[in-house]
Amino acid sequence: MSLKCIAAVCLLANLALGLRYDYHSSKPVTRSLLTYYESVNATDTCTYDVAPCDPNEWRRLDGSCNNLKHPAKGTYFVPMIRLMEPHYHNGNEPRKAADGEDLPLPRKVRTTLLKVGKSSHPELSQQVPSFAALLLMDTISIHDIEKMVLVKTDCCEPEHMNDPECTPNIIPEDDPVHRFSGIRCMNLTRPQTYQDFHCTSDKVPSPIIRATPAFDGSSVYSQFNDGQNARSYEGGLLISEEENGRRFPPNGPRGVCPLNVPPKETRCYQNQMNSVLSHNVYMVWFFRNHNYIAKELAKVNPHWDDETLFQTARDINIAVQQNMQFYEWLPSLMGFDNLVNAGVLSKNKGFRDIYDENSYPVMTLDYVIALRWFHTMLETTAHLYDKDGNRVGDMPFFDVLFRSGWLPSDNNEEYISNGFIRQPCHNPDHSIDFDVAERGLPFLQEAVDIPTSDVHKNRLFGLPPYVDYVKLFNDITVNDFEDLAPLIDEQQIYNLKLVYKNVTDIDLMAGMWSERHMEGGRISKTLGDIMVDALTRTIKGDRYWYERKNRPHAYNKAQLKEVRKYTLARLLCNVGEGVTHVTKRGFYNVGPK
Ligand SMILES: *[C@@H]1O[C@H](CO)[C@@H](O)[C@H](O)[C@H]1NC(C)=O
Ligand SMILES: *[C@@H]1O[C@H](CO)[C@@H](O)[C@H](O)[C@H]1NC(C)=O
Ligand SMILES: *[C@@H]1O[C@H](CO)[C@@H](O)[C@H](O)[C@H]1NC(C)=O
Repeated sequence: MSLKCIAAVCLLANLALGLRYDYHSSKPVTRSLLTYYESVNATDTCTYDVAPCDPNEWRRLDGSCNNLKHPAKGTYFVPMIRLMEPHYHNGNEPRKAADGEDLPLPRKVRTTLLKVGKSSHPELSQQVPSFAALLLMDTISIHDIEKMVLVKTDCCEPEHMNDPECTPNIIPEDDPVHRFSGIRCMNLTRPQTYQDFHCTSDKVPSPIIRATPAFDGSSVYSQFNDGQNARSYEGGLLISEEENGRRFPPNGPRGVCPLNVPPKETRCYQNQMNSVLSHNVYMVWFFRNHNYIAKELAKVNPHWDDETLFQTARDINIAVQQNMQFYEWLPSLMGFDNLVNAGVLSKNKGFRDIYDENSYPVMTLDYVIALRWFHTMLETTAHLYDKDGNRVGDMPFFDVLFRSGWLPSDNNEEYISNGFIRQPCHNPDHSIDFDVAERGLPFLQEAVDIPTSDVHKNRLFGLPPYVDYVKLFNDITVNDFEDLAPLIDEQQIYNLKLVYKNVTDIDLMAGMWSERHMEGGRISKTLGDIMVDALTRTIKGDRYWYERKNRPHAYNKAQLKEVRKYTLARLLCNVGEGVTHVTKRGFYNVGPK
């Protein structure tokens, strides 16, 4: 069972001749530190071995040796960085309001700022939030959710409310929904930190993440980043199993799928995450895409061995995902010209190189938390279509959470794939869908309000107030609510005043929910700013970035051109199931044109 892995201890085998590094500092571990780790039984959790780097080797599965001067930077489990100093109260408690009182309850913030209901996006399809799920899982992990639903389930019991591992969401007396239900509390556990595992003596809480920080297909090649297990060592292929005439990643005891409905639903991935359906669909597509590419490569290069086929196929698969993310998905959200002006995209189709060897692959905590804004784009009822475009039914997305067995059964994959193509996503117009608001983990919890937890997490991670981000990105000093007018409409400012007493109290997420969309784009302006910052860091810090001419095993011009042609539409045609028609611009709705 994978629960043992929550402590991320079940990871790397010792590598001969390598050097042992400390995760938190990314430096070689000192003898005295090692002695300390041994005394608290934390050696395997807090340190790991890195085999010597070869400047010409392929991108490693564990992310090490990306930066040759700092081989340990860029591995999974290395701490995120912060855009600004954290704001905590008393060390690691959520910050207080300006008047010294507690901030308003997160649930109060959510119910005041976001309406609940259906709202279809006028332009974008379900592919947009679904691909976002893949990107998120590529750089974060869901061990905290697993912990909350499977291990530490009693945070709302009065005797556990003050348990340091618990941080439940209290529901106000006058709650618009739960004054009728009698539910007064929603379970939530505190995010796991290096401090919890004795991996640092730093006082500032530093959350743990289990995926590598680069966009490198972590969730396809193994969430555990010991992806050696996922390889078949033949023909460069990943191990796959057939079900219903289609190929899927293999089952294994490590998978956690408590909601599979037997006897039909048996699939539960051993090396990949078993999480939300939209992630699972994309993960399966990119998983198959690896094997598709490896087989095509073997046809034209019959002399290549397994290693060359595997590494080349992986490199292309990652490049395809990165290109899709940067040149298709991002422009649909932020506008192509905005991204060119911000330096995230290049206008010409050739090589580009903004690599900086003093940088390294790393995520900002601000980015990882801000991405939760995408919950406001979730349409939670999946409309199912057959391959001829007939609507054949509905499936609530959250009913198939932690239920990997559903997708391979019957014609579900055909129905869901055609639904992604034909259904609009939710319009982020200061509203959210019902299930996101009240039914985040059906069957496992009575009530979970996901965006309420998102606000709560801003505070648990010590993110600075919203106005600090406004200052950082717009150089606007906000002294009172009216100063927000350049970013937020009057009506939303009014709503913010209903919950927050002082403008400096506003949480980042609450500000982003309230903002107008960026000019030329379709998302919150501050979210866009945080994404631009993080994505530019990614390109600068990743020595293996696919657009570079001078990287190990770089493409030639013609090869790069082929990668750029590999669109979402192409992917669906190559590896989709029951997909007969696609939209050329894959992230946009089917329209009259
Ligand atoms: C030490 O930690 C490992 C996991 O890292 C665990 O399996 C083992 O039981 C622990 N031993 C003691 C004495 O706590
Ligand atoms: C809001 O809080 C700041 C300190 O964070 C304080 O300087 C300011 O006077 C407060 N504004 C009002 C209107 O109370
Ligand atoms: C919180 O968890 C407990 C124990 O698992 C469960 O009985 C309760 O229904 C949960 N609360 C909500 C609001 O879901």
